[in-house]
Amino acid sequence: MKIGIIGLGVVGLSFASVLSSKGFPVIGMDSDGKKIEQINSKKLPFFEPKLKLFLKNALSKSLEISSDIDKVVRNCDFIFLTVGTPKSKSGYIDLSMLKKASKNIGISLRHTTKKPIIVIKSTVVPNTTTKVIKPLIEKASGKKTGKGFDILTNPEFLRESNVIDDTLKPHLVVIGGIEKNSVNKLKKLYRKLYGPRIKLMTTNTQTAEMIKYANNSFLATKISFINQISLLCQSIPGINIDDIAEGIGVDPRIGRSFLNAGPGYGGSCLPKDLETIIQFSSKFGSNPLLLRAVQQTNDLQIKYIIHLLEKNLGNITNKHITVLGLSFKENSGDIRESRSIELIKILLKKKAKITVHDPKAMKNTEPIFKNQIVYANTLLQSLDNCQCVIIMTPWKIYTKLKNSDFKNMKRKLVIDTRRILSRKNLNVEYFALGLGTN
Ligand code: UGA
Repeated sequence: MKIGIIGLGVVGLSFASVLSSKGFPVIGMDSDGKKIEQINSKKLPFFEPKLKLFLKNALSKSLEISSDIDKVVRNCDFIFLTVGTPKSKSGYIDLSMLKKASKNIGISLRHTTKKPIIVIKSTVVPNTTTKVIKPLIEKASGKKTGKGFDILTNPEFLRESNVIDDTLKPHLVVIGGIEKNSVNKLKKLYRKLYGPRIKLMTTNTQTAEMIKYANNSFLATKISFINQISLLCQSIPGINIDDIAEGIGVDPRIGRSFLNAGPGYGGSCLPKDLETIIQFSSKFGSNPLLLRAVQQTNDLQIKYIIHLLEKNLGNITNKHITVLGLSFKENSGDIRESRSIELIKILLKKKAKITVHDPKAMKNTEPIFKNQIVYANTLLQSLDNCQCVIIMTPWKIYTKLKNSDFKNMKRKLVIDTRRILSRKNLNVEYFALGLGTN
């Protein structure tokens, strides 16, 4: 049995690496020649903890990397589609890469007797598998589902910066499809990979597709909920939002995770998926009031940071402000929809002088702001002469900041959006989101 994985982004490359390191024969395919070259020379195209080790192991075992889709279709029993479905200009999901890959699979299917099971792992809105992808493959291949190939939906729940652990131990595997034989074959594959105890759920394709959107929308809702409470807490001296999160998180009906207040959620998934499901709802005449409020609450966080800054610093034109953390979360170099990038854009409009620091995301940020901002070589250098530092991403290195590190700041004003320094009693003017101040 051979497994093909088309699209070697975060999801595809981690899945391929985990499968191969466990001995499954895998062909990982991507149309980007540069990426193929990098991966083949055991280099990661992006920063992701633990992945490099798994990739090295996989390449020494049974992982073959290729740009030849024909090879995948001719040889593989399962073909997982893990290509990106990014945000289009309108904010809605862009299916062009998925459509292109599906069409190419169809063309390759014409010349083979192999009947692969095609598994859609990319995030897609309900009905995409049956109404968009299936007809495309049927048309390009001249073959029918059930005869020349089968198609299933299998959404992914892994988190960037945690991809290996999440791929090794998913909380759930959702399989969408009504063709029993192929559903059972995919179940068997997952049981072989994860053992007989893995939690598997089978449903139709559109429900599986919706589970993914409901999941990400709920996570975004939890974050906006705690952020809203956090803003309220700030007006009440002595209240700490983290204690509130602990208190309510113990209730098993609520749960502690995704209750960390901060500058708002970012990344390539939550903002995009929320916007897509809002637009999708509207197409069906449904008014997603709650989800819109979740978005608006998320946007408020940046506005509040600016408010806090201006309240303490006055007019920020020509003021030197340092932003710590550019990636949308710690242990990642990804700046897509990062709140830090949004914050810097607003600060630049207000003509502030910006210096930035991030352990992994500086290279990705340079093409956006070019020479409009200063890219500090070290954390300490980034604080030199600045009049305010804003901690945006909770990298471990920032949690270690101590009094002496702030000594060269022109004004020792610290705005900590994640409260990582809140228990340190620093000798600075300290403000944090979610901490009630007098
Ligand atoms: C998210 C989901 O968590 C995954 O389950 C899903 O598979 C993935 O999207 C996807 O659709 O591919 P990810 O975007 O990697 O994963 O990042 P998260 O860990 O969800 O964090 C998203 C944002 O929320 C970050 O900016 C993070 O800082 C913020 N966040 C998260 C908070 O502000 N507070 C929290 O308590 C948790």
